[in-house]
Formats: sequence, structure tokens, C-alpha cells
Amino acid sequence: MTERQEGLVGKTLGKYDVLEYLGYGAVAQVYKAYHPVLDRNVAIKLLHPHFTREEDFVERFKIEARNLASLRHPNIVQVYDFDIYGKRPYMVMEYINGPTLKHLIEDARKRQVRVPLGASIRMIQNIGVGLSYAHGRNIAHRDIKPSNVLIERSGRVVLADFGLARLLSGKKQTVPGTLTGTPAYISPEQAMGKSGEGASDIYSLGVVFYELVTGQLPYDAEHQLAIAMKHVNEPFPSPRLIYPELPDQIAQIIQKAMAKTKEERYQSIDLLLQDLVKFQPTIKTARLQNSSLIDIANVSTKQESTGATTRLPSDERTQVSVYFIDTGQILNLKTQAEYTIGRKYKGQPLIPDIDLTPFKGYEWGISRLHAKVVVGDEDVSISDLGSSNGTWHSGRKLRVNTPYKLNHGDIILLGKLRLQFLIYK
Ligand SMILES: Nc1ncnc2c1ncn2[C@@H]1O[C@H](COP(=O)(O)OP(=O)(O)OP(=O)(O)O)[C@@H](O)[C@H]1O
Ligand SMILES: [Mg+2]
Repeated sequence: MTERQEGLVGKTLGKYDVLEYLGYGAVAQVYKAYHPVLDRNVAIKLLHPHFTREEDFVERFKIEARNLASLRHPNIVQVYDFDIYGKRPYMVMEYINGPTLKHLIEDARKRQVRVPLGASIRMIQNIGVGLSYAHGRNIAHRDIKPSNVLIERSGRVVLADFGLARLLSGKKQTVPGTLTGTPAYISPEQAMGKSGEGASDIYSLGVVFYELVTGQLPYDAEHQLAIAMKHVNEPFPSPRLIYPELPDQIAQIIQKAMAKTKEERYQSIDLLLQDLVKFQPTIKTARLQNSSLIDIANVSTKQESTGATTRLPSDERTQVSVYFIDTGQILNLKTQAEYTIGRKYKGQPLIPDIDLTPFKGYEWGISRLHAKVVVGDEDVSISDLGSSNGTWHSGRKLRVNTPYKLNHGDIILLGKLRLQFLIYK
């Protein structure tokens, strides 16, 4: 593969200028590229040419592509485009600036430290919210593993390679020995040759959770197939054998996610998320309290719902979400709407549209009327409303009552609270 690694750098691939080689996996190479007309960076995943040899691959590729491109969620890598280059199919997606969860776990392992439990929970929550959204549209990931989780420098956790496993596995799913998924994270049913579905994602997420909290994989063997078979046959090894201080509630969540049969497993990703949320209050932290995803839906009367249950606006419309980096909540905003952000105060009749009182707004330095977000048809902007601790972007304090036009991915600080604006057009 090495001789081809740099091969495309400096070349043009369709509408894209290839800038940099990013890495490779079992089936593809990934490049960073630039779309000059839209002036944005993208990641291009170039598959090996042998895929196009399968007779109906291109047809299936296009159908699946449409499906995947319809997924729009802050915790899912947005797919923009699919095409064929010579004989090589490629997909164009949102470029994420940051390492993968695999890198993060390996780094912790090398330094012989544990990923902090709070951070692990937050990442699992974020992945879960993305999965919940996709499962709600009957799309399963089928290859949940740390290398498919990208962690943007801003802290946003994004799931990549949705549905790719099925696309690449071909139609002949029942041929013994062909697996979808990756042995270390594979669900028992996938290890037995089934194609995988939502329940399989829940299992694999359980394995990732296990690895995050213990620093080790639950099953190991010399051969990949042997590892896959251990997922089928070997009893669940308690993570507390490795990490005795792990709270029992978390160990139980992992165990239930990793149940061998689908019947014993969480019946939906939302049920897993609910159990995780229940655990939150026992974490000792001065940070914004993680309240339930449902709670935040009640915060404002104007907002529609949370990421977990949101209905998609039609694809042409702008979708604006606010991502609470510090806690992982996601708020979807309506278009053509104005939102004031602040916190409730005794004796003050005005309640802000997005009331951060239940989220310890005071401790985060949020003023009663802190800022205003305006979601227009074309633009989204934020202005400070004369707050005590200010509204900040890139280390600069915004001028009071002066709208700042938000770009996709902008991180805004309200006092100490970090919000990321995700604007999909
Ligand atoms: N959207 C993206 N933005 C930035 N970097 C990316 C993006 N997608 C993938 N990468 C980088 O490219 C590398 C290769 O990704 P790829 O999905 O091909 O392999 P993998 O997930 O590591 O393994 P496998 O082939 O088994 O799925 C990733 O490890 C990541 O560092
Ligand atoms: Mg991948």
C-alpha cells in the first residue's frame, strides 16, 4: 500500500484537490482534500479497486450512498458525495480535525493511565446519541470500534463509516467465514455470519465501553476468528477484575450491552443512554450537571427536541444544532427563530428561551440574559446581551448587541460554558 500512499497528493480527484494522506484501514485509504468552490476541506475515502469487480457493486454503492448521505447528526460524520475514480469507488465526507478514539486508547495505554471515567461516559453517550438517531431511521452502523470514532479538537465526538460494513461485505452474507464487523468488537450474531443490526451496534458499543474503562479488550486470542468465536462462547469477563473501583452500575451497563443474546441485551440504545444518565449524579464534579437528554428538551419551549429523538427537517433546509461540549447534550434549533440564552432568576418574570438554570448556569458564569441566537434562512448569528462574563469566540470577546455570524463548527464560550454550533446546509 505504501507506494500508493502519497500517490494522489497534489492531484485532482473529481472536484477535489487532494492535499494530504491521512491514513488507511483494511479496505481503503483516506486523504484530506479541498473543495475550491465550496471552500471547505473534506476527507476522501478511496476504496480498493477490487470492489468494482463485483457485478452489481456500483449500483448498490449508489443506493447505499444516498442512504448514508441522508444521515445528518452532530455525532455522525457527514457524508457529502460518492463517485468512482478510474475503477476505485470513493466517498467524500466531512473532514474531522483530531485523533481517533483508537489513538486515544493507545496513547493512554502507552502512558499507563486510564481514560478518566467521566470522559469515557461522555464519549459513549455521544456515540450513543448518534447511533440512536441512525437506528431511528433504520440504519445500523455494523462496525462500531474505536478507529471509527473521531474526536475533533473541539471535543466533538463523531462516528465515521456508517453502514460501510454492509456495503463492503457484498450480498453473499451467509457465506461462512465472511464477517461484517471487526473481530475484537464483533457481536455474537455477526460472528455467526449474520449481517448485523441495531442490536449488534449496542453489543459493539459495550465492547468499546469495556475497553475504555479497563484499557483492555474483553477477549483476546492469536487468530481473529478465535477472537470472534470467544464473543459467541466465552462468558463475559467482569471489567471489575481489571478495574475493581469501577462503579458497579457502569459494570452492569457494559454487561447488559454485551449480553450474548439480543433478548438479554438493551432493547434500544436509548435504554442504555437512560441508564448512563441515571449514573451521572454520582460523579463528583463541579461541572455542568449531566441531566437527562429528555430534561434538556424541556429547557426551552421553542426548541423541538434532542438529538436522540429529533425528526429531520427536509434535506434542503439548514439544520442548526448546539452541542454542549462539556456534557454532550445536543439541542436542535428551529429555523427562522430567535433564542435568548440565560438562566431563571427569582423575581424576574422573563424566562430565557434556553434556560440553563438546571445545568448550573450560575456556576458556569451565565448571566440571566446572556446571549441571543438568531437562526435565519441564510445565516445563524449570536450576540451578547451585556452579560457579566462575556460571550467569546476564538479568545475574543464579542461586542455587546453586535451579531456575530456563526460558521459550522464555531465554538462559543458563554462565561466558561463551551457551546459548539453545528450548521448543516
Ligand atoms: N472524516 C475523516 N476525517 C479525518 N480523518 C479521517 C476521517 N475518516 C478517517 N480518517 C482517518 O483515516 C484513517 C483510516 O480510516 P479507515 O476508516 O480507512 O480505517 P480504520 O477505521 O482505521 O480501519 P478499518 O478499515 O478496519 O475500518 C483513520 O484512522 C483516521 O485517522
Ligand atoms: Mg474506519
